[in-house]
Amino acid sequence: MEEYKFDREAYEKRMQWFQEARFGMFLHWGLYAIPARGEWVRSQERMPEEDYMQYFREFDPVDYDPRAWARAAKRAGMKYMVLTAKHHDGFCLFDSQYTDFKSTNTKCGRDLVGEFVEAVRAEGLKVGLYYSLLDWHHEDYPHCSDPIHPMRENPAYSDEGRDFDRYLTYMHNQVRELCSNYGKLDILWFDFSYNELRGEAWKATELVQMVRSLQPDVIIDNRLEVSGEGFGSLAEGHPTPYHGDFVSPEQIIPPQGMQDGNGNDLVWEACFTMNNNWGYNAADHFYKPASMLIRKLVECVSKGGNMLLNVGPDARGNFPPEAAERLEEIGKWMEKNGRSICGCGRAAVDKPDYGRVTAGDHRLYYHVFENTVGAVPLIGVKREEVGAIRYLATGAEIPVVSDWVYSNYPDIVFANLGGDPVLPDPVDTVIEVILK
Ligand code: GLC
Repeated sequence: MEEYKFDREAYEKRMQWFQEARFGMFLHWGLYAIPARGEWVRSQERMPEEDYMQYFREFDPVDYDPRAWARAAKRAGMKYMVLTAKHHDGFCLFDSQYTDFKSTNTKCGRDLVGEFVEAVRAEGLKVGLYYSLLDWHHEDYPHCSDPIHPMRENPAYSDEGRDFDRYLTYMHNQVRELCSNYGKLDILWFDFSYNELRGEAWKATELVQMVRSLQPDVIIDNRLEVSGEGFGSLAEGHPTPYHGDFVSPEQIIPPQGMQDGNGNDLVWEACFTMNNNWGYNAADHFYKPASMLIRKLVECVSKGGNMLLNVGPDARGNFPPEAAERLEEIGKWMEKNGRSICGCGRAAVDKPDYGRVTAGDHRLYYHVFENTVGAVPLIGVKREEVGAIRYLATGAEIPVVSDWVYSNYPDIVFANLGGDPVLPDPVDTVIEVILK
């Protein structure tokens, strides 16, 4: 076999929009919205196929309006959206010719993926599809011997006669359909590898070759190699032919950003839920406040990463009200301050006590979460480098102070936010430092 050569130049070109975008929406949606106990419900409750099929017969998301979803994402300041075309339960939101277990065969009769990709593009956003490598519906996927299959350890579902190769053909065929029938895809989000099911066990080289031949610019996550656990071969410095393009930390923001062994920044995207479930869960009202989500977005960008924030629409196709409200709140902040997020990245400046710093083109953005006593020290920037200092939200000038209190710190620029100890934006007041 030909040795794989990682082409850094092509890679960096392909990743450019993604690193500028910084903020996207994850959507977990499928039959599991009906039981409304999260997308793992079949596995967690060891639910037999027959019981799950009632949801297939019932599925009818009459309110599904992907244009409304895309508009909500756009208003929130998001630049891309990723939808579960197939989750672990195997149900397809697209019209696959290789299965009957698909949305076009439910009451709704619609190709939900087809409508989704069009709607997202119409709003000018990039579009991604999530595809589960696991499949709890396919008869050739291991049942009894698999550690997470709903029928695990159930001798009535022995794996004799199951042909994993046949499953792989099915899986590859479906990925080909997604890459052929829905126009240009910007992201393919595979999920996930575990135990011995990783890399070539998925025939990953062949799969990625096929994907790249159909979608040369598509960005692929790292879960053909890992799950949220592990970083993947690109991060480890020995890229395989099926290496992921980005690291996909899940339900965590990397405490110290992400660097490779040589200290070079890696591309990563932290995905996490607004409450504690990916798929719709009617009982889960533990939503993170909008203020927290805004600050976490800033945290991701200040550490050089993206944030993929999840929404789990309900069975009728609506965003839970808590999610919709948070998106609106985030949008209000982004409308004024989005320039400190999109197109920005890690600043070569230490994290200040009061907040975080992001860096844009010739600009530093000091995000003040908590006011200081007196003027705000803009640590890391030299007086002679400063062209102007402004509130990002209004464009109003912020003067530099230089009276006696500050004379002990001649190397630090202090921004004078005035007499009011309450910040103009109590969530995050952004100070824009325009460099000379
Ligand atoms: C997981 C879960 C899953 C979710 C995903 C998102 O590994 O299996 O349900 O889709 O993470 O990152």
